[in-house]
Amino acid sequence: MSTRDVAQIIQSINTSDGAGVKLLRSIGQRQHVRLDPFLMLDEFGSFDANDYIAGFPPHPHRGFETVTYMLEGHMLHEDHMGNKGHLRGGDVQWMTAAHGIIHSEMPQQQSGRMHGFQLWINLPAREKMKPASYRDIPAAKIPLVSLNNGATAKIIAGLFVNNQQHIQGPVQGLATQALYIDVTLPKGETFTQPIPHAHNAFVYLYEGEVSIGEPSSPTKVSTHCAALLGQGDHVTVGANDNARFLLLAAQPLNEPVVQYGPFVMNTREEIDQAILDYQTGKLVQAKAQAFSE
Ligand code: FE2
Repeated sequence: MSTRDVAQIIQSINTSDGAGVKLLRSIGQRQHVRLDPFLMLDEFGSFDANDYIAGFPPHPHRGFETVTYMLEGHMLHEDHMGNKGHLRGGDVQWMTAAHGIIHSEMPQQQSGRMHGFQLWINLPAREKMKPASYRDIPAAKIPLVSLNNGATAKIIAGLFVNNQQHIQGPVQGLATQALYIDVTLPKGETFTQPIPHAHNAFVYLYEGEVSIGEPSSPTKVSTHCAALLGQGDHVTVGANDNARFLLLAAQPLNEPVVQYGPFVMNTREEIDQAILDYQTGKLVQAKAQAFSE
């Protein structure tokens, strides 16, 4: 058994996206600040409607997956396939853009707190041009595990293993075998989870402070930081304060990544094709009534 140490800490930066939604971006803040296959992680969180009210009007994606996880608030997703989904506290939307999607994500509240995450996960070359698909996962379908030490874990994707418990999240069958867990850990307690050797992993802390790694020489990680983990077969997180964090892990693709905004492909030529397809209305395979490019 070897514990993964912290290899690198990425402090979030303030940025904005969509029509001016304020965000904290860790993974993906620059094109080379990534952890294969994770391309980007944004945290959006504000009590001030001016920070989120403009939302994300219709925009395209090709070549990867976007995962929106709401902690608080209410957003409405609509896409060119006619999918429409309300996202409220605890809900997840797992969208596989693949060949192409045009969608919008708009706040359905005028006030109050909006808090959540958007994660981008890359697709392997063989899946980049498969048909787009979309999964709405209501909070009630996401297993919530209560541990003996008062910790809780929501299993969004992948296999959670703790003592004798093996709990599979609702999102399965991904090429990257992604693990996506949301953990609440009381001060002074420890959380451990096995992670396959070959997988890349990181912890994103959104509340409190934790120490990660070998208990004799852990690394402190503070709020709004992504801690990229080194080699090993499990992660150990100790809470220095009441803490909340995401644990993400996946099989790396080890393929070239060429990104142009919302298009992520393997070559420059494929990006040129994506831009041309978007300009000529061929990015998406079936158009919906409500949307136009
Ligand atoms: Fe989007």
